[in-house]
Amino acid sequence: SMSAAEFLPDDPARRTDLSALERAAEGCRGCDLYKDATQTVFGSGPADAEIVFVGEQPGDNEDRTGEPFVGPAGQVLNDALEDAGIDRSKVYITNAVKHFKHTLQGSRRIHAKPSAREITACKPWIEAEFAAIKPRAIVCLGATAAQAILGRDFRITKQRGEIRETPFSPITTATWHPSAILRVPEEDATQRMYDDLADDLYAVAQLMA
Ligand code: URA
Ligand code: SF4
Repeated sequence: SMSAAEFLPDDPARRTDLSALERAAEGCRGCDLYKDATQTVFGSGPADAEIVFVGEQPGDNEDRTGEPFVGPAGQVLNDALEDAGIDRSKVYITNAVKHFKHTLQGSRRIHAKPSAREITACKPWIEAEFAAIKPRAIVCLGATAAQAILGRDFRITKQRGEIRETPFSPITTATWHPSAILRVPEEDATQRMYDDLADDLYAVAQLMA
C-alpha cells in the first residue's frame, strides 16, 4: 500500500541528514494529502535538539509558510515553552502528518482530522527524524501524535504526563494539543488545560536538567 517509505533517500547517510530528508519530503506522494495542500511542512529545529515535539499536522498558516506551529496553536505552544523555561530555538518541532488536511467552507479551509491510514503512511518521515536526532525526550502534542508514537491505546485524557520508554526515546510523553486548548469553550477549562500543558513541559525540562 502507499506510504512515505519509498520517498525516503536511498543513500543511508542522507537518511539521517535532516536537510536531505526535508528535500526528499517535498516530493512525497505517500498518501493523497499532498494533492490539496500548498507544500510539505517538515520539522524545524537543530539536529542536536534534545527534545522533539510532535504535533498532529500543519494548519492553514503552516501550509502557507511551510513552517510548523507558526499560527494560533504555535502561539499557545510558545507561551507554554516560555513558562516551562524551554528555549524554542533549541528544540525540534514537527508533526505526525506533513501535509494540511482540510475541507472547504466557502473559501475557508477547515482543519480535518487525518485518518489512521494517513498517519501510518506518513510515519516513515517522523521515524527518520527521530533516527537523525536521537532525542533524549519526545513530547507528543495531542491524541494523533500520541497514537502514532505511543500506540493506538494511549488515552491523552487519562495518561497525559506519563513518561514511557519507546524505541524512539527513553523519555516519551504526551500532553494536550495547543489547539485543543483554543477549542474548549469554558474559560476555566482553557486555563486548566493550559496549566496542565505548561506543567507537563516543565516536568520534561526538569528530567533533562
Ligand atoms: N497544529 C499542529 O498540530 N501542528 C502545527 O504545525 C500547527 C497546528
Ligand atoms: Fe507524504 Fe505524509 Fe504528505 Fe502523505 S501527508 S503525502 S505521507 S508527506
